[in-house]
Amino acid sequence: MTDPNDQTGEVGGLVAEVAHMTAQQRADHEAEVAEAVAPDREIGVEVGATLLELRDVTLRFGGLTALDSVSFGIRRGEILGLIGPNGAGKTTCFNAMTGVYRPTSGRVLLEDKPLGKATRHKITQRGIARTFQNIRLFGEMTALENVVVGADARAKTSVLGALLRLPRHHHEEQHAVDRAMALLEFVGIADRAADKAKNLPYGYQRRLEIARALATEPKLLCLDEPAAGFNPAEKEDLMELIRRIRSDGYTVLLIEHDMKLVMGVTDRIVVLEFGKKIADGLPAEIRENPAVIAAYLGVPDDDAA
Ligand SMILES: Nc1ncnc2c1ncn2[C@@H]1O[C@H](COP(=O)(O)OP(=O)(O)OP(=O)(O)O)[C@@H](O)[C@H]1O
Ligand SMILES: [Mg+2]
Repeated sequence: MTDPNDQTGEVGGLVAEVAHMTAQQRADHEAEVAEAVAPDREIGVEVGATLLELRDVTLRFGGLTALDSVSFGIRRGEILGLIGPNGAGKTTCFNAMTGVYRPTSGRVLLEDKPLGKATRHKITQRGIARTFQNIRLFGEMTALENVVVGADARAKTSVLGALLRLPRHHHEEQHAVDRAMALLEFVGIADRAADKAKNLPYGYQRRLEIARALATEPKLLCLDEPAAGFNPAEKEDLMELIRRIRSDGYTVLLIEHDMKLVMGVTDRIVVLEFGKKIADGLPAEIRENPAVIAAYLGVPDDDAA
């Protein structure tokens, strides 16, 4: 990895440059950033086709059934909301999709191919990235370094190549730094690129997690309560970012508790309760669904109906 002190100067320079650009230069620069954020990726499926599918996924922890025969699909280009009361199994879904846990039964398929026993690293390479409900960053690394490390998850050079400093490694490293900087800009935190992650304000850390996930060039980006702890204005800003991420060609799976927010940004919503899927539909349908209302109000379906 490059000397962090060198990067400090470099990053400061980049940000200062942006501040002094003409309108045309700024437009060109934004186009460059957009290209770096969403390079031409081989997606393998058409917009609208199923990108990821859960088929009868059951996941048990001892006697507790955290997911109970859950099935749903995510279409490419979609923002899909995953909601449900606390303990419903939302995070467990992410864990089953990213290789943290293997389903007790059932299958997860990415582009029609089962994840099977793929490791977390392999799943990242296949195109699923996530953020965590409890932020997980390398606190002692700078924001920029955190994103470079994210990009590394996809790099083709071997560790040996890195040790021998093969030309391809050097090229990839420079590319990773440029792209990381573009990603920080995209999520709106480039001004603090050289700060240690642990010193960033909470909202910046949440955005940094997203930048790091995007660095792996995922086909599917899974966000686990990215707006937790935000005030309404911050939440609205974050939803705007999620819309931009989708416009750039990513598919997004979003766990979010704030109903108003989730209704405003998603195309479709899947609802879990006690590990079971209780609804799957358009936001307007979900809002009116008696089982969903009952789940959130904590009253039996019969009473709600
Ligand atoms: N590693 C684990 N070991 C045992 N039980 C677990 C484990 N992970 C999750 N659970 C249990 O599985 C159930 C679903 O948990 P999960 O974290 O998926 O819920 P969630 O929908 O994400 O809730 P929240 O909104 O609170 O984040 C809960 O009862 C939880 O206690
Ligand atoms: Mg959770």
